[in-house]
Amino acid sequence: MGGAKDVEGLDAAEAEAELVRLAAEIRRADRAYHERDAPEISDADYDALKRRLKAIEARFPELVRPDSPSAQVGAPPSETFDPVPHRVPMLSLENLEPAPRMADEPARLEHERRVAAEFDDRVRRFLGLGPEDPLAYAVEPKIDGVSLSLRYEGGRLVLAATRGDGTTGENVTANARTIGDIPQTLPGAPEVLEVRGEVYMSHADFAALNARAAAGDGRTFANPRNAAAGSLRQLDAAITASRPLRFFAHGWGELDAPLAATYTDAMARLAALGLPVNPLLKRCATIAEAVQRYLDIERQRAALGYDIDGLVYKVDDLALQARLGFRSTTPRWAIAHKFPAETAWTRLERIEIQVGRTGALSPVARLLPVTVGGVVVSNATLHNEDYIAGRNARGEPIRGGRDIREGDWVMVYRAGDVIPKVADVDLSRRPPDSRPFAFPDRCPECGSAAVREEGDSVRRCTGGLICPAQAVEKLKHFVSRGAFDIEGLGAKQIEMFWSDPDLPVREPADIFTLAARDAANPTKLAERHGWGEQSAANLFAAIEARRRIPLDRFLFSIGIRHVGEVVSRIIARHYETWENLSRSIDRIDSEDVPEWRELIGIDGIGTTIARSLVASLREPRERASIDRLAAQLQIEPVAAPASASVLSGKTVVFTGTLERMTRAEAKARAEALGARVAGSVSARTDLVVAGPGAGSKAREAERLGVRVIDEAAWLDLIGGG
Ligand code: IVH
Repeated sequence: MGGAKDVEGLDAAEAEAELVRLAAEIRRADRAYHERDAPEISDADYDALKRRLKAIEARFPELVRPDSPSAQVGAPPSETFDPVPHRVPMLSLENLEPAPRMADEPARLEHERRVAAEFDDRVRRFLGLGPEDPLAYAVEPKIDGVSLSLRYEGGRLVLAATRGDGTTGENVTANARTIGDIPQTLPGAPEVLEVRGEVYMSHADFAALNARAAAGDGRTFANPRNAAAGSLRQLDAAITASRPLRFFAHGWGELDAPLAATYTDAMARLAALGLPVNPLLKRCATIAEAVQRYLDIERQRAALGYDIDGLVYKVDDLALQARLGFRSTTPRWAIAHKFPAETAWTRLERIEIQVGRTGALSPVARLLPVTVGGVVVSNATLHNEDYIAGRNARGEPIRGGRDIREGDWVMVYRAGDVIPKVADVDLSRRPPDSRPFAFPDRCPECGSAAVREEGDSVRRCTGGLICPAQAVEKLKHFVSRGAFDIEGLGAKQIEMFWSDPDLPVREPADIFTLAARDAANPTKLAERHGWGEQSAANLFAAIEARRRIPLDRFLFSIGIRHVGEVVSRIIARHYETWENLSRSIDRIDSEDVPEWRELIGIDGIGTTIARSLVASLREPRERASIDRLAAQLQIEPVAAPASASVLSGKTVVFTGTLERMTRAEAKARAEALGARVAGSVSARTDLVVAGPGAGSKAREAERLGVRVIDEAAWLDLIGGG
């Protein structure tokens, strides 16, 4: 929004146009957030859009449109389609690390080969394969569209569902039936066949659709992917039918009989059944061949007629895929190798410093708005002060040591869907009077010293709980989706309560005493400006509804650095209850106690996470605040993943050498069966699998009376090797 005119300076015509633009931007952001789960702008920018809209509406009340976003209460309806639980989750893919933007051609090739080879190495290590053992990949384009699951029963299409959050999607069957590429029947198909694939729009169809839209109501789509997503998710299937959607299959979910022994053969089978399979799918005997294919297809990219954002490599042998299995949300047997991101040059107007909930001072570039790959970009992250100064974390020059200054022309790019980044600066266009950016050593919000710890690239405000920015950001995180997700209590209300003299909310626990404190106040919330009986009652009810909270959500919500959603779930599953977790952490007064070893023995928990968790829970003021919160809640235990397996909820320790599978595979198999894998033996261990050479752990198990078995018994237990 750089360069937008002050609200005070607008005349009525400008205000009207501006309201239309802001409403469109807000709706677009809403859709990206709520419907595609892919926010395109930051919360701060979103709030700024809404603030500006409201300010203009306040000045020109006669211009307020009945459909203004300001008239909307809370989130838009989300239950527009029926939910569909996916029996086999719809997962995402991990990406190979992209090449540095400024790499020259040879350096880039070197990079692409190296990262692909590292993936191949990881797969081999997991499977215990040597460097010379054969390992073929199925290689195909990564279609830039929206994923769709098609369920065929008895050869008839019975259900089509979007991905949703991966566990639950939306029923879009009526819409999918209008897509010409999707067969209604699959004669000769297995009894149950769930086909997974991508809905997309070709460049030509997209251009024609946008031309029609421009001539009609003027609402064009930014790119083919948005057009495909918007068209698929229409409540009126007749609209979907009028949109030229296409489909490529790229896998399957539930299946009652295997399709083939390899991915390429399975896809050939799907093609023979009548499903569209990408013609560029190819089996590559080695990872080197796969990378060659990537480079070849990159050259053909523009001529394909539809958007692809890279290639996907999949281990071709389905038996190996089954052994490799999954991490929490991604398969180990596949990887996306994306093409380099699109870039554009623009002017950097200003550098602003934002203070996050962990105190990190984050520099943000305010840009002259520019279109990058079909999206208008006006902000970009600058990462940290070293990045601005032209150094990496080790102090070595990046961008040839060129620093970034206010007024510079910079190259911005979008990697993935979210925050754009600044890649380079054009020194030939640098204003003669420019100065290097002076990164503040004080917090711009509270004035406390902002320091960098040894080895940390981020400067952090040391104000802790006294820094209002940190406290407010923590609270915003606390109420956000994925955390406590309290309806009617968003970033805006948090700001309001934060500075409310009569009903302040300064820490999460205060939220749960709001109703009682309001009842005791002479002036009630319901009587205040912007509130009413109903909205106040709704808020208190929404808060009440969250007093019961699963341990993983609780942990994620309190906003400990490095403890995100996935880590929270891992920790919660291991300790099961808040009492277990807090008691265990309380005993960690050094890294030399069994409780510490238990913590870092959990798969997925490294020392950085563990130290952060322990530091937060043992910091007296922070812990007191967490305890005040916990006292308001009923924190529910998190059970191990539901499964009938003998290992469900059991804690297993592997020790000694395993001969039939690698340690990584053994761990993954145990976890897939619902077990927790720990690194050290404690009284809570249920089973120790000891291979040859097992030492102190096996002895410790015997001392504690824990069951110890050998690898053969382990293989029997999990049903074969
Ligand atoms: S395989 C178990 N293959 O990319 C993971 N996905 O970033 C299955 N996508 O949600 C994914 N083209 O919707 C696969 N050839 C392809 C793909 C592809 C596009 C999408 C897919 C997935 C997303 C992951």
